[in-house]
Amino acid sequence: MLNIALPKGRLGEKVYGMFERAGFECPSIHEENRKLFFENEALGIRYFWVKPSDVAIYVARGAADIGVAGKDILLEYRPDVYELLDLNVGKCRMCVAGPKDFRDDPARTLRVATKFSHIATDYYTSTGRDIDVIGLNGSIELAPILGLSDVIVDIVETGTTLKENNLAVLETIVPISARLIANKASFVFYKTRIEELTRALAKEATA
Ligand code: PRP
Repeated sequence: MLNIALPKGRLGEKVYGMFERAGFECPSIHEENRKLFFENEALGIRYFWVKPSDVAIYVARGAADIGVAGKDILLEYRPDVYELLDLNVGKCRMCVAGPKDFRDDPARTLRVATKFSHIATDYYTSTGRDIDVIGLNGSIELAPILGLSDVIVDIVETGTTLKENNLAVLETIVPISARLIANKASFVFYKTRIEELTRALAKEATA
């Protein structure tokens, strides 16, 4: 069985659709229940739904042979996996955002609230700016509103969350999208199958 970890939720369903159209269907996945894994014995594949931010952990540790994870997670946690393909879905961007009229004062350490401490640190190291990272787990937009931080580093998709909280994109750090990833040992063991699947998915990714 080739174990495939998919991110639970809307993006995961879209991604499963790509696998299905690429010829790796698993009809039982459409049944209404709370099961977390689904098999197609004839094709020798088993899908399972995991929290999006956990996919890379399953793949890195070999519990899943392949999976789909956001580039944000790969940049933040740097799991030891192969990144095989940009699936061109789940597109958004990692940005610095803050009050529309924000002016950086280089004389002060910049306070940055984020779920993505590594990404924020790497970005500001590359610009030579001193920062104080404030690690939060969600509702990051509140931080500059309440004076907890000067700016945030976060994902922006439609921009609605920022707009509705009177914030704006100040800088774009990197574009984000969903990536097909593989466990390094599995990639060697299942090379032919994984390469075949990657090729079939690549057609869906550009379709
Ligand atoms: C993400 C991100 C923003 C929002 C951006 O949050 O952290 O808050 O989506 O989307 P938009 O530009 O389309 O408004 P998520 O829904 O993952 O929840 P979170 O608050 O727990 O981070």
